Amino acid sequence: NKERTFLMIKPDAVHRALIADIIKRFEQKGFKLVAMKFMKASEELLRKHYDELKEKKFFPGLIKYMSSGPVVAMVWEGLDVVKTCRAILGETDPAKSKPGSVRGDLSIHIGRNICHGSDSVDTAKREISLWFKDEELVDWEPAT
Ligand code: CMP
Repeated sequence: NKERTFLMIKPDAVHRALIADIIKRFEQKGFKLVAMKFMKASEELLRKHYDELKEKKFFPGLIKYMSSGPVVAMVWEGLDVVKTCRAILGETDPAKSKPGSVRGDLSIHIGRNICHGSDSVDTAKREISLWFKDEELVDWEPAT
C-alpha cells in the first residue's frame, strides 16, 4: 500500500549532528520526502502529539526534553512506509534495537532514542495533520 508516515528527528540527534545520517537512510531506501521542517515544537503541540502517554511517569520529562531544542518534522511516502520506517528505526528501546537500525547504531537510552516514527497508518494520519498544514505537503514526481 502506498501510504504516508510521520518521522521526527529528536533534539538529541540534532544536537549530535546526526540529521543528515538519519535522513539519508530513508532517502536511500527509496522513500519519497513529502514535507520537512526544522522547528522548535511548543509544549502544547508535543502534549497533543504524545497524548496517549499523558498518564506515564516519564511524560513530563518527555515533554520537557522534546521542547528543549529543535526537531526535524517530516512526512515520507511509499509502499508500506509506516512499517518499513519502524523497521529502519529499530525498537523504541535502543538496547533492544539491532545494529544496522537507526537506534541500534546511534543511541543507548529509551528517552534519547533519536527519531520518532508513527506506529500505524491511522496514527500517521493524525500526526501528519497535527504537525503540517495540507498546503505544506508537497505534491511532486521525479522528472522523467
Ligand atoms: P517515541 O517513538 O517518540 O514515542 C514515545 C516516546 O516516549 C518514545 O519514543 C520514548 O522516547 C519515550 N519513552 C518511552 N518509554 C520511556 C521510558 N520508559 N522512559 C523515558 N522515555 C520513554
